[in-house]
Amino acid sequence: MRYFPLFADLAKAHVLVVGGGEQATQKVRLLRKTSAHITVVAEAVTDELRELGDQSAIWVIRRAFLARDLDGQRLVYAATGDRLLDAAVSRAARARSVPVNVVDAPGLSTFIMPAIVDRDPVTVAIATEGAAPVLAREIKTLLETLLPANFGTLAKRAQALRETIAKAVPDARTRRRLWERLLQGPFRRAILRGAEDEAGRILAAELHGEDRLAAPRMTGRVALIGCGPGDPDLLTLKAVQRLQEADVLVVDRLVNPKVLEYARRDAERIFVGKTPGGPTTSQAEINRILVREAEAGKVVARLKGGDPFIFGRAAEEMAALQAAGIGVEVVPGVTAAHACAARVGLPVTLRERVRQFSVVTAATAEGEPDLDWQALASARSAFAVYMGVGNAPLLRKNLLAAGADPATPVVIVENGTLESERAFATTLCDLTDCVATLAVGSPAVIFVGLDWDEAGLCRPETVTVYRRRQPAANVPALDDTVANAEAAL
Ligand SMILES: C[S@@+](CC[C@H](N)C(=O)[O-])C[C@H]1O[C@@H](n2cnc3c(N)ncnc32)[C@H](O)[C@@H]1O
Repeated sequence: MRYFPLFADLAKAHVLVVGGGEQATQKVRLLRKTSAHITVVAEAVTDELRELGDQSAIWVIRRAFLARDLDGQRLVYAATGDRLLDAAVSRAARARSVPVNVVDAPGLSTFIMPAIVDRDPVTVAIATEGAAPVLAREIKTLLETLLPANFGTLAKRAQALRETIAKAVPDARTRRRLWERLLQGPFRRAILRGAEDEAGRILAAELHGEDRLAAPRMTGRVALIGCGPGDPDLLTLKAVQRLQEADVLVVDRLVNPKVLEYARRDAERIFVGKTPGGPTTSQAEINRILVREAEAGKVVARLKGGDPFIFGRAAEEMAALQAAGIGVEVVPGVTAAHACAARVGLPVTLRERVRQFSVVTAATAEGEPDLDWQALASARSAFAVYMGVGNAPLLRKNLLAAGADPATPVVIVENGTLESERAFATTLCDLTDCVATLAVGSPAVIFVGLDWDEAGLCRPETVTVYRRRQPAANVPALDDTVANAEAAL
């Protein structure tokens, strides 16, 4: 290890930044997280630095650097963009034993700047000694995802409790166990979701040595979490945080198993959902499971594909939970249509051309979907069909019967964002044939009315173009209306 990690106390310390450009501004932004007295020396400065100077938040000296500027400084940053000047600042600082950092020049620096994950007062610093800053950024991103935004609140709460707990629990080993329980268990989860009353109850039960079972009954709660279309990288930060808090996961069929890796290993897993032609858990049963687990005082993560509010039956689960007096939170997710459109580069609205976009489902409990076919068949209509593969012939028939142009563009994305993803571009006229010939399966989104190559944005390498080779007359199972429409092509 060449660079030894340290955290410098900059409270009220004097820190000098030489340079007034963008890099110097970035350093000042970072330093302003502390209460250091910041001085900037530069002949020209950015608007941001000038405004901070005007507000007396920093001190700006508009002239060339002088060695005496280093007097009384705890640290100095050189970010002038001029290598000779940076080197001069470095020499002057080292001559006075003032620690110096020169931007992008470790050879001229006596300390380097790590990548930082800031959850004040918890700070994580990551450095690779300049070997691979990209790796440091990767670790930073990972930690940013894993540590809840309000993680610092938990640390501040612990700080505030230190004295009380030290008095209440004099034995060091017992105290350590108590801290572990508080900072890793229900107390932590209550704090992180802002449930102060609940946290207070848990703390009181712990401090008064009550049997945990005899402690006031802890209310469970449920988060309905949108887990996106499959790619775990599309999870939101909040989804990951809620996953980590959960005691029990109630998991839908379409949720990628990789998503579960973000949950605690000891979290119980209950798999529910509807496999076409396979085992099915009824919605009523899922509702019962959610209520049962939450009433047992557990933190429940209900994992759903895509977004919970888009064909996700979240409303029914919310109603059941609310009727049972259980707190429920909805964590939005990336819905399949948006993810699939992004994968193939298909904008779902286009300035001046596509001003409205809707999502419809081709599946209903009753069988045949009762959609407004006339509206959908209009030339201005653009929409995404969920659960539409099985009903593709019906979709095609009804749209053509309602007057849709058989040449209406259609894009199908199957298993969007997963390794097995496939995408096809065809026309409404060829939709059924395309699905049958290429054995398109579920899950898939069918986009209708979005011209995949018109905008020139679609990524052609991701899309297979399907045009029927047989003449229209040879296509079986078309009713008269459809055959007439096709004949007009
Ligand atoms: C019950 S709906 C759930 C939709 C989900 N709530 C959402 O917002 O994406 C299931 C349908 O979503 C679509 N779907 C879900 N994941 C998909 C994926 N990875 N690729 C393509 N379509 C997907 C398919 O149309 C599938 O039949």
